[in-house]
Amino acid sequence: MSDLLIQNISQIATPKPGVYRGSELRELHVINDNSAILIEDGIIKSFGPLSSVLSHVTGHPEILDADGKAAVPGFVDSHSHLVFGGNRAHEFAMRSAGMSYEEIAEKGGGIVSTVEATRRASKEELKDLARIRLQKALKQGITTMEIKSGYGLDLETERKMLEVLNELKEEQPIELTATFLGAHAVPEGSTKEEYLEAVLEMIPEIAELAEYCDVFCEKGYFTVAETRKVLMRGIEYGLKPKLHTNQFNDIGGVEMAIELGAVSVDHLEVLSDEDVHRLAQSDTVATVLPGVSYFLNIPYSPARKLIDAGALVALATDFNPGSSMTISVQLLMSMACTKMGMSVEEALCCATQNGAKALEKNRLGCIAPGFQADLLLLDGQSYKDLAYFFGENHVHTVIKKGEKVWELRG
Ligand code: NIG
Ligand code: FE
Repeated sequence: MSDLLIQNISQIATPKPGVYRGSELRELHVINDNSAILIEDGIIKSFGPLSSVLSHVTGHPEILDADGKAAVPGFVDSHSHLVFGGNRAHEFAMRSAGMSYEEIAEKGGGIVSTVEATRRASKEELKDLARIRLQKALKQGITTMEIKSGYGLDLETERKMLEVLNELKEEQPIELTATFLGAHAVPEGSTKEEYLEAVLEMIPEIAELAEYCDVFCEKGYFTVAETRKVLMRGIEYGLKPKLHTNQFNDIGGVEMAIELGAVSVDHLEVLSDEDVHRLAQSDTVATVLPGVSYFLNIPYSPARKLIDAGALVALATDFNPGSSMTISVQLLMSMACTKMGMSVEEALCCATQNGAKALEKNRLGCIAPGFQADLLLLDGQSYKDLAYFFGENHVHTVIKKGEKVWELRG
């Protein structure tokens, strides 16, 4: 791997290394005017004003002229369901005509309809669909992504989803993390008790294929006691807990997840002040998903309160066919600002270094010496464009582990 010197950068904007919470999230490290980034073996060696970076150069690095573009860290999307069959555009149309998410689910739509399409798809078909979605994600600046299973709801299909995602790790530049979400819904033809037992039996079978275990802890899906059982079994087999909780109802998922040392709790659209306080006192990341609130027209998670209380907050797409059909972190940053009261600086931190925290990757999501060189060059001169000019892709060049992996061609 050759070394790389990126020069002629108009602005470098990054979270401060290791700063994940509190008022410091409002202060990015910003360097304006003719700066540079030196990368060796895929790791950032030095960054800052060109003259100081040049003093670290040894040998003859390849030069990349940023031509006055701004640089930010690559986005770390810590919650997605990118591997799935079919799509649910017709359900969006039904909802737009007045039906609710729950009503559609009761009529055989919702998660269960994606389950059918995912079961029907061959492994190759599923992989082809996922590969194209990953290309879209990369162009939008996502350089690391978590992907969940959960549209199989039987061992064979859950395994197929996880295999697709593990094989895609080797085939394309986005760094992927796998989460087992067998307890996403109860499949047709099973009782809750039967399916819960089946999920517990799946865990030892698929443990090699995933890093995390997740459950949809929600009224009509899995209770706190059922969720705890699944997460405990996951822990037993080396899968660390994550959780979908407090999306429509508060049934006590947050308290239980913190008690189990969950890496993150995600959604949190319905969140009590007690749980805000609990999260602030914990190391569990509170992952907010404004795409869901927008798409389903439900309340936004109280991210402002969470940040003010001192919680670790991450911002993620929840890319999935039923509740957040978007791959644009930039659009979500804009929503986080207008709908959740985040500053642009906080939104950038939550979508980069804090997303990495939700995946326990402490050398990602930041531009600083020793961090992996996952960078975006934007088509403008300031990180502020990311949230301001919304619905637009501002990413011009994507660098992953020090290699240019995508570039907008004029
Ligand atoms: O994260 N909340 C549960 N699961 C997904 C929705 C899945 C679907 O509707 O297909 C979510 O929002
Ligand atoms: Fe989700």
